[in-house]
Amino acid sequence: MAERPLSRIREFKIEDIDEILDIEQQAFPKTSYSKEVFLNYAKNFADTFVVVEIGRNVVGYIIFDMGGHIHSTAVKPTYRRKGFGKMLFMHALKYAKTKLWLEVRSKNSPAIEFYKRLGMIIVGRIPNYYETDDALVMVFGQKENRSNLDS
Ligand SMILES: CC(C)(COP(=O)(O)OP(=O)(O)OC[C@H]1O[C@@H](n2cnc3c(N)ncnc32)[C@H](O)[C@@H]1OP(=O)(O)O)[C@@H](O)C(=O)NCCC(=O)NCCS
Repeated sequence: MAERPLSRIREFKIEDIDEILDIEQQAFPKTSYSKEVFLNYAKNFADTFVVVEIGRNVVGYIIFDMGGHIHSTAVKPTYRRKGFGKMLFMHALKYAKTKLWLEVRSKNSPAIEFYKRLGMIIVGRIPNYYETDDALVMVFGQKENRSNLDS
């Protein structure tokens, strides 16, 4: 049986930019961040723009800040439902040492289900936050929700 290659989380490096843009394009085809946006994040969020890699392949990323705001996260389609999204989320939770929160498109049901599975709860709605959609504000931090991360 083939062994599953080791995965690890590390800080973004400039050499990752093409893979990140590829993941971004596949995750958000109509609203992808540009190269400039990612390079700006790399400059201003050097410790908290991290990627997960398998061997030498970057398969996902998360950008958060020390206030616990998740700015963006995505996993390559062929690597989804294997726990990498959760791994990145757990890294942010440990590193930021605070509650986590984010805005998510109200029509992005897969992501909302993912965040709910991790124990996030919807605490608000911002009408027309995106050009064609409302944002839901989701928060993680209540002790009773942390048990979701054990399974
Ligand atoms: C959301 C996203 C990052 C999740 O990454 P992932 O690596 O697939 O997530 P995980 O494998 O860690 O999922 C953990 C659990 O969350 C839930 N979950 C994940 N994706 C789900 C989906 N599409 N539908 C329903 N539940 C889902 C499941 O319970 C899953 O556990 P299981 O596979 O054992 O059932 C990924 O789907 C993605 O990149 N989406 C496009 C970008 C995006 O929408 N980002 C969020 C913007 S705010």
